[in-house]
Amino acid sequence: MTTTSNASKSDEVRNAIDRLHSQGRTADQLMAGITDLLNEQMLKYNWVGFYMLETGANPPVLVLGHYRGAMTPHTRIPLNQGICGAAASSGKTVVVDDVHKDSRYLACSLETKSEIVVPVFVHGEVAGELDIDSHFPAAFGDEDRKLIEYCAQLVGKRLESA
Ligand code: SME
Repeated sequence: MTTTSNASKSDEVRNAIDRLHSQGRTADQLMAGITDLLNEQMLKYNWVGFYMLETGANPPVLVLGHYRGAMTPHTRIPLNQGICGAAASSGKTVVVDDVHKDSRYLACSLETKSEIVVPVFVHGEVAGELDIDSHFPAAFGDEDRKLIEYCAQLVGKRLESA
């Protein structure tokens, strides 16, 4: 796959996600649609899911929401654990090219080689995140990061207007 085709594929998926957003889907429906589209259309996105911070939980915990891909044992992740916890606690996108070299990594599937986790912000605060695993090493380049951050922003905006 060339860089150009990856860019045009991500444009195509972005347009499909824009259509979901403009059809006035709820945040929940939007998250379900995004997980479906990204998993079906982006060939290296083998596991796609949202984790959302549980309301009122102390200490805070990320709870698995809509996802596509293999079942994961990690349905509740405290903020001091995993790549998921690192992204939520720092409020920054985390890209890991080789999960086996990252001591924070919580294994979900033996096949996973790389991962990206993008926070979802609501009124400037982290409310959850979009997590994607790939069976391919270093699967998430700049184009992927932009697409996934765009998806997370749309969900954040929709949650703000809920
Ligand atoms: N790998 C994640 C855990 C979630 S699974 O990938 C679905 C982590 O290290 O936080």
